[in-house]
Amino acid sequence: MSETSWAAVDEYISGHLLKPDSALASALRHNAAQGLPPIDVSATQGKMLMLLAQMAGAKHILEIGTLGGYSTIWLARALPDDGQLVSLEIDPDHAKVARENLDRAGLSPKVQIVTGAALDSLRNMQQPAPFDFIFIDADKQNNVNYVEQAIRLACLGATIIVDNVVREGGVLDASSDDDRIIGTRKLFEHIANHPRLDATAIQTVGDKGWDGFLLARLR
Ligand code: SAH
Ligand code: DHB
Ligand code: MG
Repeated sequence: MSETSWAAVDEYISGHLLKPDSALASALRHNAAQGLPPIDVSATQGKMLMLLAQMAGAKHILEIGTLGGYSTIWLARALPDDGQLVSLEIDPDHAKVARENLDRAGLSPKVQIVTGAALDSLRNMQQPAPFDFIFIDADKQNNVNYVEQAIRLACLGATIIVDNVVREGGVLDASSDDDRIIGTRKLFEHIANHPRLDATAIQTVGDKGWDGFLLARLR
């Protein structure tokens, strides 16, 4: 099996289980036109995030790493009428594109995009209502810090998902000098003996190549 087959199977899955969606399609078009890198979650992953958030009954979602808001749209759609999502993004140009995409999707009333380094935003955050669902998908170097901040701001039973924890098997390279790999390996070591997290990680292949996500529950 090659990357071509993975993408073809993703097309087969999307063709059967995902409906054509103008808000999501125009978000990806707008991202590309504005020069954003195509590193959003795939469509099948986006729908999985939405379903997981719905299954968890999420009402207060935290996202770290907005880009153009593609994953944000999927996650915000999981929310009930009185639900809220906060998404953190360091790049003002990305945040601007994301706000435009969320506006077009009719989701702006439910979504707050906070511009700035996510760790600063998190440390300054005084959440009146704790987060019940957290999606971490920004600079991988900070993943341990993000998980610890997420725990500080989350309720018991909260779902924590971390994207891109496999990186074409790069996670196995103990001598890597890639900060993203080093950050990911630190994340696994940190969670391995964590007193408050039950976790697993799932490898994925598809139209975004070979990667994976970590799924944890706060206890
Ligand atoms: N979740 C998005 C993809 C996010 S890509 C989706 O699936 O659609 C990662 C994003 O994290 C980029 O937009 C990048 O600018 C942002 N980022 C990188 N470092 C950051 C930091 N320190 N704080 C906040 N955002 C950061
Ligand atoms: C990268 C970041 C992501 O969040 C992603 O899904 C894929 C790639 C990156 O920084 O290369
Ligand atoms: Mg990602």
